[in-house]
Amino acid sequence: MTDLSAALARATAHTTLPPFRFGSEAHKRAFCGVLIDIFDPYKPAILAWPKLSIDAQNRLTSLPFWDVAIETEGYASSRMQAMADQQTDPLIKQAIGLNAFEEGRHKLVIRNMLRCYGIPLAEERPYGAPRDPQWAFIRTGYGECFDSFFAFGLFKMAKDSGYFPAELVDVFEPVVQEEARHIMFFVNWVAWLAANKKFLPRIFFRMRCFAALVSAAFGRLSLAGAADKGKSGDNFVVAGGETLTVGLTPRKLLEVALAEDTRRMEHYDPRLLRPRVMPILARLALRVLPA
Ligand SMILES: [Fe+2]
Ligand SMILES: [Fe+2]
Repeated sequence: MTDLSAALARATAHTTLPPFRFGSEAHKRAFCGVLIDIFDPYKPAILAWPKLSIDAQNRLTSLPFWDVAIETEGYASSRMQAMADQQTDPLIKQAIGLNAFEEGRHKLVIRNMLRCYGIPLAEERPYGAPRDPQWAFIRTGYGECFDSFFAFGLFKMAKDSGYFPAELVDVFEPVVQEEARHIMFFVNWVAWLAANKKFLPRIFFRMRCFAALVSAAFGRLSLAGAADKGKSGDNFVVAGGETLTVGLTPRKLLEVALAEDTRRMEHYDPRLLRPRVMPILARLALRVLPA
């Protein structure tokens, strides 16, 4: 979407969209629409990979996280498809199925890029189906909230610094924006499902979500997660962040990530919830981090 059309969409949304109650059919249509209506049908096979200078190619090859990136997308896709298969609501099923498809497409984009630039890739293992698709989906959802927040910042920094040529960064722009759609869908799905449960099941579901959030957070904070090169299929931002953020301070990364998070979420229906955990944590951290 161009800046102009995004601005027009926002202006229209503010003036014409009727308010809804979280948990309502209107809420469901709105958050499913973020995936279904704003679907970009690009095909990984026809993406144009730019010719790289020797330096840029070496920088790309030296990034330590490509295997982890592919595994992360592969696990996300299989977990989301398992969740989609379990759904009885046709709209939710379609939206989560599309989310699974997009994760699989991210994997293909990365694979195609590695193949194009001759970067070796470990053999993929089967991802298997999760025993508890809902738990796996919730944990993956919160994991994506953490990863995407930092990915927004790292992507912007990589772009501005010229670390990679602009043409290469541009190829990944749809992938990064798709993650913004995924996490927006996810937090609204949580709110929608919780609102449609009776008191005790709702408390249980919220506790489950909190446990998944904490579990995803620890997966990312754990040094073991980076040390095992992400064999848990959990995270690739941690594994590669050190390389991409050389010379950058944590404060700078958080500031850029916060600004990018706001900008990327601006495009969507203003009535929908935005992911809040990472922005809140980042603002708290910025109060104590040295300038
Ligand atoms: Fe993805
Ligand atoms: Fe995603």
